[in-house]
Amino acid sequence: MSTTRPLALVSGGSSGIGYELARELAERGHDVAISGQSDRVHASATELGKLGVDVYPFRADAATYDGVEGFWRSVAGLGRPINVACLNVGVGVGGASFLETDLDAELRMIAINCTGTVHLAKRVVRAMHEQGPDHGERRILVVSSVSATTPTPYEPVYGPTKAFGFSFAESIREELRAEGITVTALLPGATDSAFHHNAGMGDTRFGDNSWKNDRTEVARQGIDALFAGDDHVVGGDEATKQQVVDHRSMSEPEKAARQGAMARPS
Ligand SMILES: NC(=O)c1ccc[n+]([C@@H]2O[C@H](COP(=O)([O-])OP(=O)(O)OC[C@H]3O[C@@H](n4cnc5c(N)ncnc54)[C@H](OP(=O)(O)O)[C@@H]3O)[C@@H](O)[C@H]2O)c1
Repeated sequence: MSTTRPLALVSGGSSGIGYELARELAERGHDVAISGQSDRVHASATELGKLGVDVYPFRADAATYDGVEGFWRSVAGLGRPINVACLNVGVGVGGASFLETDLDAELRMIAINCTGTVHLAKRVVRAMHEQGPDHGERRILVVSSVSATTPTPYEPVYGPTKAFGFSFAESIREELRAEGITVTALLPGATDSAFHHNAGMGDTRFGDNSWKNDRTEVARQGIDALFAGDDHVVGGDEATKQQVVDHRSMSEPEKAARQGAMARPS
């Protein structure tokens, strides 16, 4: 069946912020390809399909080369131009000091948050370059974090992985500017998803979802910024945006102390 709708991909689009990014894009008339680590990706695709677009689910482990490449192959195999790519999948490891956190879990997080992001970005950027400007917009969203703007004690490797994503997005944005491919970084503040629970942070202030930003609002802000071609956007309420403003004038030790007080397990 042929469609004239633009095509978007969202890694980690089966739940959390990624699902809401996919939903925003579907509501704005995009077919969406989504990945996830569990069978939930199929149920999520069924839900998104109720919005009247085509949805292509793919289950794979984003910590592995084959998992990332498999998702990419599934999208490239559709034989369609790619108009939007949201490099969203990411995990955290926290709830303990670096002395105690598990090395394998941290190396796996680096594989998902850094290596996998570079891998998928390489495929997307080359494909968008090849397809040229004649098949509609070409826009990339890299999901970073407010954690990119501060040291992150008690999740000491997570923040650096998100700083990597932010700098990477701003770097390739500059390279791709003349080509008309836009790159936007989304920096969510603490957001209501399964993220902190999965990161082992249930026993911290981040274990409680009730005070966090609404993931539908964070995603809407991210997609608005993507289509505006902004270089980055802080996702969340006014307090979240103010936090990033404050970070610009605070010393690294001050930020580390503030963040550590929030993330230290009780
Ligand atoms: N939540 C926050 O407070 C927050 C704040 C700032 C930035 N972020 C960033 O936002 C992004 C999305 O986080 P989230 O809050 O939506 O997290 P989430 O609720 O835990 O969702 C993570 C998504 O990634 C998928 N996923 C996890 N591990 C995977 C793996 N190994 N292989 C393939 N897919 C995998 C999950 O699939 P399943 O559905 O199958 O589990 C799900 O679709 C991440 O990059 C995170 O760093 C989050």
